[in-house]
Amino acid sequence: MGPSEEELRARLERSGQAHLLRFWGELGAARRDSLRATLAQLDARELGRHCQRAAEASAREQGGPGPGGLRGNWEPIPAQFLGSVRRSDGAALERWEEEGLRQISQDKVAVLLLAGGQGTRLGVPYPKGMYDVGLPSHKTLYQIQAERIRRVQQLAGGRFGTQCTVPWYIMTSEFTLGPTEKFFREHNYFNLEKSNVVLFEQRMLPAVTFDGKAILEEKGKVAMAPDGNGGLYRALVDNKILEDMDRRCIQYIHVYCVDNILVKMADPVFIGFCVSKEADCGAKVVEKAYPTEPVGVVCRVDGVCQVVEYSEITLETAQMRNPDGRLTYSSGNICNHFFTLGFLQAIAEKFEPLLKQHVAIKKVPFVDEEGNLVKPLKPNGIKLEKFVFDVFQFSKHFVAFEVPREDEFSPLKNADTADKDTPTTARRALLSQHYRWAVKAGATFVDANGQRIPEKHSLSGDEEPPVVCEISPLVSYFGEGLETYLKAKNLQSPFLLDEDVAKFVAQHE
Ligand code: UD1
Repeated sequence: MGPSEEELRARLERSGQAHLLRFWGELGAARRDSLRATLAQLDARELGRHCQRAAEASAREQGGPGPGGLRGNWEPIPAQFLGSVRRSDGAALERWEEEGLRQISQDKVAVLLLAGGQGTRLGVPYPKGMYDVGLPSHKTLYQIQAERIRRVQQLAGGRFGTQCTVPWYIMTSEFTLGPTEKFFREHNYFNLEKSNVVLFEQRMLPAVTFDGKAILEEKGKVAMAPDGNGGLYRALVDNKILEDMDRRCIQYIHVYCVDNILVKMADPVFIGFCVSKEADCGAKVVEKAYPTEPVGVVCRVDGVCQVVEYSEITLETAQMRNPDGRLTYSSGNICNHFFTLGFLQAIAEKFEPLLKQHVAIKKVPFVDEEGNLVKPLKPNGIKLEKFVFDVFQFSKHFVAFEVPREDEFSPLKNADTADKDTPTTARRALLSQHYRWAVKAGATFVDANGQRIPEKHSLSGDEEPPVVCEISPLVSYFGEGLETYLKAKNLQSPFLLDEDVAKFVAQHE
């Protein structure tokens, strides 16, 4: 039932938010119940504090020099904390991979997907993970990820003779939970064990005006947004996820964001690298492509490792270059993080309240005093968000690991009207990678007349491959084991190597 109208009104008055009940008299029973539920869940004192904090934080940001200006003593990540695929020899990479696979085979590794974002830039009304970028198989991002989990389980189990599980934790929000749950159910959890796919929900926070009033988006609805991907740490506590991990004897968690089509889930090399270095916290990075690329920069400020977000770094800092012409702050965050369970427990128990509140100033539709719906032309609202990487400062042993962009990073952020990070660029990056794998495995592509199509050997992720070749993650996770199916084979484009084709070839060899 929740609090009565009088109780609600009294509480909201005490926190300066009584305007949220302005249209109460006009609301029907259902809308009253829903508004009451939102307000009860917010807790009036907490709401008052949140509104005040938001107004203060935005006033601070608009006044002084923005954060990310050269305050404090900045430096790139020192070499001893930075591993690199390109700069490591084959033996080291194999050792890390072996170590990672060993940990996976012993059921010590979980993956955790951050999927609570609204995907505003992509502009689809459903969760980004359900997006189909137009591959020949028409697999969605969720399906690709699920299949990579299945494959990495097979690889680790095969190497060490175990039956192992990589549980998949998925953080959603009010916007994404329902449709994500339904999608997984309809697709039979992509043949993963349902009990090993754990969906949970992050909290929502109200958007606030510059003078500290929560915004009514409709007469009976407060404008709410997820509390940022750093809301993870509260959500882990709210939903008892760390206990679940502990029960399963998980020790290492690979956290990643939903939109990178090349993401290597539970990447054995990255896990093995972090475990070998005895890190409690790690981040994968790629070399930044250009100064204004919208990726955070991993660096040290006053001796503390952290990410300075692209929205908060000054242009001057982003453009700084070394004498050799390379960007000084070149370690681009790809939102792929490694945490030990112990580290996450320490964050949950001690440090979460200390995480910075980042301010985003947005245009938030609202109802005016007369009850008319207004779509503001200028930003009018403040959203406070926490960022997942802001826990790096509490790490006792932080490492970063640089990976080749063409193998590991192609995010889907924008609709195809943009130039970069679109469905087209994501599809191209994946198909280029699969083409490179196929050629390396010894495949030859021929046209309809049987004429050989000359190979392109040094194809970057930005270039259209000469043929269309897609390889199911169920057949190969990072290009391994493809010779069996592809060596000395003449293939016609479009070519799709899925499980059935692989089985057929294996049976007829
Ligand atoms: C993020 C990183 C940025 C990195 C870039 C790489 C953060 C704060 N920023 O930026 O440093 O260079 O990815 O692609 O991590 N999400 C939630 N809940 C929320 C908000 C977001 O789960 O409340 C999830 C999204 O669903 C997504 C991930 O967090 O999976 C990243 O969010 P997004 O807003 O796309 O981050 P970017 O601004 O692209």
